[in-house]
Amino acid sequence: MRRALLAGSTNEWLRRQATRRRFVRSAVSRFMPGETIDDALRAAGELQRERIGTIVTQLGENLADRSDAQAVLDHYRGVIDRLPATGLDCEVSVKLTQLGLDLDPDLALANTVDLARRSAAIGRRLWIDMEASNYVERTLDVYRKVLAHEKLVGVAMQAYLHRTAADLESLIPLGCAIRMVKGAYQEPPEIAMAKKADVDESFFRLSARLLDDDARRAGCHVTIATHDRALIGRWIAAAEQRGVGKDGYEFAMLYGIQRAEQLRLVAAGHRIRVLISYGASWFPWYMRRLAERPANVWFVVKSLAG
Ligand code: FDA
Repeated sequence: MRRALLAGSTNEWLRRQATRRRFVRSAVSRFMPGETIDDALRAAGELQRERIGTIVTQLGENLADRSDAQAVLDHYRGVIDRLPATGLDCEVSVKLTQLGLDLDPDLALANTVDLARRSAAIGRRLWIDMEASNYVERTLDVYRKVLAHEKLVGVAMQAYLHRTAADLESLIPLGCAIRMVKGAYQEPPEIAMAKKADVDESFFRLSARLLDDDARRAGCHVTIATHDRALIGRWIAAAEQRGVGKDGYEFAMLYGIQRAEQLRLVAAGHRIRVLISYGASWFPWYMRRLAERPANVWFVVKSLAG
């Protein structure tokens, strides 16, 4: 099921069919408060009342030309400029392919430096999503270069990739900020671990590595981005055992997933952010959410019946 859903995520015919169907759009609303930045900021306000911080990201992946990248840059500039007046504890996360990585890595770098500086000027960290494995090298290359200009910037790293342990070691001396995720794309076994238990163990080991003294001395930041309650429990125990306070890390989850766990973490005094996606290009992203938990397909079927 997971493989079929991930294969479907790149199918143009399916995308056209799904985006026309009202029942699919209604099922999508479980994971996305709406298609506009106003919808996302409204949802961020509701979460802030529950003491949950947020990250917003506009959906959309590969671009056709430089003017598309400029439009995405202008959009995010506008979002960052709006944030101080909203009073929201909200950060922005970007995909480098949206900022021009396929067209020209230097363009993606310049655009990311621009957004990182703007975001740092208002005291917010800019995040870079990690995309499919063919983008990892280029994404980390851009990240290293952005870090040389601006420290308040972080990148997602995927625990399922065999390469991530070595990549992480290379970033630690730079004082990196890492959002550790399991990984959401379909990858072959030469590139990514196939067994869930191996991915979970890798996630724990890699994120806990960022609690080591050298990483903390270098100024590294770690965000534990998972809905996996067992892993979260194990992680909290490891942090306590090492004497790392609750302000030494943060959790992150996706909008609409594990709401009870989000509130439980806040009540226990942990810091947590919810990532809110918005935008019209939601199809591949939504298929990845279905693939993470094939039981979600039943929500689509149920909304068809309802
Ligand atoms: P796992 O898949 O083991 O799920 C644990 C439990 O969580 C499940 O049993 C279920 O209860 C619940 N759950 C998980 N996913 C669910 C869903 N879709 N619907 C309902 N329940 C669900 N990936 C990537 O490749 N690049 C990136 O940049 C990011 N960025 C990112 C940011 C944030 C804040 C989060 C939380 C996740 C990402 N991801 C990502 C996605 C990540 O790689 C991964 O696919 C998902 O987080 C699902 O894995 P879990 O860690 O939740 O564990």
